[in-house]
Amino acid sequence: MTSEIVHVPSKWRAKHPHGAHLNGFLEYRTLYEESIRSPDTFWAKQARELLSFTQDFHTTRIGSFQNGDNAWFLGGQLNASFCCVDRHAIQDPDRVAIIYEPDDPQDGSQSITYAELLRHVSRLAGCLRARGVRKGDIVTIYMPMIPEAVFALLACARIGAVHSVVFAGFSAGALQDRIVDAKSKVVITTDEGRRGGKVIHTKSVVDDAVKDCSCVSTILTFRQTGGDVPWTVGRDLWWDEEVKKYPAYISPEPMQSEDPLFLLYTSGSTGKPKGVLHSTAGYLLGAAVTGKYVFDIHQKDRFFCSGDIGWITGHTYTVYAPLVLGCTTIIFEGTPAYPSFKRYWEVVAKCAATHFYTAPTALRLLKSKIKKEEIECFDMRQLRILGSVGEPIAPEIWKWFHNFFGSNQTTLTDTYWQTETGSHVVASLAGVTPMKPGCASLPCLGIDLAIIDPVSGEELTGNLVVGVLAIKQPWPSMARTIKDNHDRYMDTYFNIYKGYYFTGDGAYRDHDGYVWIRGRVDDVINVSGHRISTSEIESALLEHPAVAETAIIGVPDNLTGEAINAVVSLKERENPIDIKDELILHIRRTIAPFAAPKAVFIVTDLPKTRSGKIVRRILRKALIGEREFGDISTVRELSIYWDFFRILTSI
Ligand code: WTA
Repeated sequence: MTSEIVHVPSKWRAKHPHGAHLNGFLEYRTLYEESIRSPDTFWAKQARELLSFTQDFHTTRIGSFQNGDNAWFLGGQLNASFCCVDRHAIQDPDRVAIIYEPDDPQDGSQSITYAELLRHVSRLAGCLRARGVRKGDIVTIYMPMIPEAVFALLACARIGAVHSVVFAGFSAGALQDRIVDAKSKVVITTDEGRRGGKVIHTKSVVDDAVKDCSCVSTILTFRQTGGDVPWTVGRDLWWDEEVKKYPAYISPEPMQSEDPLFLLYTSGSTGKPKGVLHSTAGYLLGAAVTGKYVFDIHQKDRFFCSGDIGWITGHTYTVYAPLVLGCTTIIFEGTPAYPSFKRYWEVVAKCAATHFYTAPTALRLLKSKIKKEEIECFDMRQLRILGSVGEPIAPEIWKWFHNFFGSNQTTLTDTYWQTETGSHVVASLAGVTPMKPGCASLPCLGIDLAIIDPVSGEELTGNLVVGVLAIKQPWPSMARTIKDNHDRYMDTYFNIYKGYYFTGDGAYRDHDGYVWIRGRVDDVINVSGHRISTSEIESALLEHPAVAETAIIGVPDNLTGEAINAVVSLKERENPIDIKDELILHIRRTIAPFAAPKAVFIVTDLPKTRSGKIVRRILRKALIGEREFGDISTVRELSIYWDFFRILTSI
């Protein structure tokens, strides 16, 4: 761990076109201390400044971690689509809300103003209402990265429906689970989508997914490619034919602060993906406060977040944070590799992006493919702030990002957070915090961090401590529950260390009080910044008729951060080569391509304890090439892991 400090470039403030929101590090320190000492005063002030309540709240916060009943801004009424659209459309209708950059650069980009956004959102909201969607109903959205996906989120919010976006890379089976769990009447999709020059068959996947879902009565399909798609008359509707029937303005539904805004499924360490539920006011405030202070967003900014709306990063920083703060968000449909590895530079330069927020996995790929001469032609002068998210960023990748995108003239913020936290919880504030390459840095405003000793369960105070990362005080954008499973919510986050929210990540606090994230301490794997649980892949593999037992292990990987390895024993002898490919395909089909194992090892048996529990520790060590297995006195059959060890070394 390096203690190297990179200071905010000296000209950064002088060149700032609008003046930074915070004057410097001391101001952050003062504001942070205030936010921890008097959280209610701090959050109430931020809420009144950054959101528009149609009825003011009377109570800032009630509830506790122990009871799992935190609620914020009680008595307040607001509407997320009003905060993100109407108030900017009223103030400055021609300001650009969205720049759409299609997968194929030849197709030309498109700009949508706030006034136009208001019309699109209203018409779609009218259409959803006409299809029977009411306040509190959950609408499932399965769409590529196009402006209509943003319209869909905001249209749900406008009528008080809860959106549940499913990443358009998930299989029909995974989509079906989510639709059924949400009991969605309406699914919104496209005929097809494009990504990296390839066609993605969204409508066909939705059709397969809803085959056995009696709840779905409408599939609203946006015509994106014009491709031929299966059609069920009565159930399927074309977006363009429908939305024009509804008015260009419908009034936003007044929502209570605590009414749910959205559901997003994410992987936990056990069981099926859980539907994480976020509130309206608290979530939106988290997006606004971090957008303002971590990313220093101003209304004239053009914010480019490469996160897909199927994940929390896309929700908070492609859609809600930029729009609630009234700047321009860049919706990029493609990948960093198509038509060439220069694509991100092209988008940043063409859209004159002021911010670029992406994941280390993309940066690792680009670092291996791009030479400085190839990107020198791009005008990146507008770029002020870079951000990294999703996994730890290695110091050499951090420096490369800072240099290759920012010519060492921007600030770079590493942002640590989770689907459940709703918005950043540890980050360096752009232009404010002295940066340490590879380090998530310091707690965000209002976030009271703790590092806990996992053995004693005691909080470790002071610096130079290693443990698990937790949060001590409630914050507005924390998830409120797991749909239909509040017990699981309590057990996962609050019952492990009483009085704390448990993140599931290990962390180290260095001599300056900076926090370094060390990765998950539970059975969650992070592949290219996508979260997936070992048990989810294991259950899917066990559904395959040939598989007797299996253990999924995450191992370090140069490109994807972690890679999925499957260790499998079979019911009967099969050709191990054929079966490996088949198992990989099985996961691609049943969950998603990103969840497919990079390697499958077939063994005769798995190492187990005397009580029959698989000893993953041994498998992990063997897979990363460690030959010291530690205490193995409780492992049932030593010969088994030697067998495994032999197989590995012979590959
Ligand atoms: C990991 C993504 C290190 C972490 C926003 C967390 C990170 C999980 C960082 C949440 C970071 C996210 N440094 N690790 N800057 N950001 N993580 O819910 O393990 O998809 O628990 O949210 O990603 O993943 P999720």
